[in-house]
Amino acid sequence: QIKMKGVKALVDSGITQIPDFYIKPVEDRALEERPLVDDQVPVIDFSGIYDPVSRSRVVKAIGDACKEWGVFQVINHGVPKHVLQDMIEVGHEFFNLPLEDKMSYYSDDLSQPVRFGTSYNPAKETILEWRDVLRHPGSISPEAVQLWPEKPESYRSRENTTNYLKGAKVFAETLFAALSESLGVQSDYLQNILTEMMFGINYYPYCPNPDLTLGLSAHSDASGITILLQDQIAGLQVLREGRWYLVQPRSDAFVINVGDQLEILSNGRFKSVEHRVTVNKEKTRISIGILCVPLGDTRIAPISGLIDESHPPMYREVIFKEYLGHYFSKQHNRKSSIDSVR
Ligand code: SIN
Ligand code: FE2
Repeated sequence: QIKMKGVKALVDSGITQIPDFYIKPVEDRALEERPLVDDQVPVIDFSGIYDPVSRSRVVKAIGDACKEWGVFQVINHGVPKHVLQDMIEVGHEFFNLPLEDKMSYYSDDLSQPVRFGTSYNPAKETILEWRDVLRHPGSISPEAVQLWPEKPESYRSRENTTNYLKGAKVFAETLFAALSESLGVQSDYLQNILTEMMFGINYYPYCPNPDLTLGLSAHSDASGITILLQDQIAGLQVLREGRWYLVQPRSDAFVINVGDQLEILSNGRFKSVEHRVTVNKEKTRISIGILCVPLGDTRIAPISGLIDESHPPMYREVIFKEYLGHYFSKQHNRKSSIDSVR
């Protein structure tokens, strides 16, 4: 079936117009205000986090960004630039493999730990998203690594992806400590909850009709925190107070999204950010995402220290795997999953 082969295969076949099943309803398209207001998503310099004098300033900036935006960029995060560039290059090499090689990993079951896929949830969507994707566990344990793809050579060697995930893990733990401090709980609080990483490479080929479709429709992430690396092609937009803002591509930065689990834990103090991805007529875009998540059986509820008379619990307790089951049962629909547990 043509839909299953994904958008890269469509583009490679030489189409000059996108099929109807990629055309989004007008109200979902990214047509408002051009040029988009940009450069306003906070950019936080992480270098001060290791210095006892400047640490509190960095922690405050992170907390403020989580409250006001639900998203921020981090520079001086400690992962070397060549490790980031190599990861994006490996992404290109994977998606440039012959289709048969990628299809051996194909699944449209979103709960499969390792899969090549297209769109977001093609089994549940009527209109598809202009994206192909590779997913696998973000752990570098031998059991997890043996599940990773064996092609291309840069994947088979495991080297680049391992370096990337090692660096991201060190950064994530430092970030979790800062977020925990900002919430006023012990510094290992979030690290003890967000113990798992799900890794993904998103591939958005150039598109003949970029104004008619989207790479990803508006959604918030089901994760606790998402650590994202964008290449140099603009496309990620975030919603704040009813307006969409571009997240300016920066090759030296991680984009950090607050996900639904952290919104619940923080009792709504931190907002999971609604975001979407636009596509481009000339350029293919890649982004690398790490979803930092709890184990499936973990119960997620507002932290008791964040509840009092003036701050009653805003969400009911959820079991993470049940939350994810609900999240995966439908197409992207803004913040409908978290809205259903308020
Ligand atoms: C995502 O929302 O999962 C991907 C965002 C991006 O490609 O920038
Ligand atoms: Fe997302």
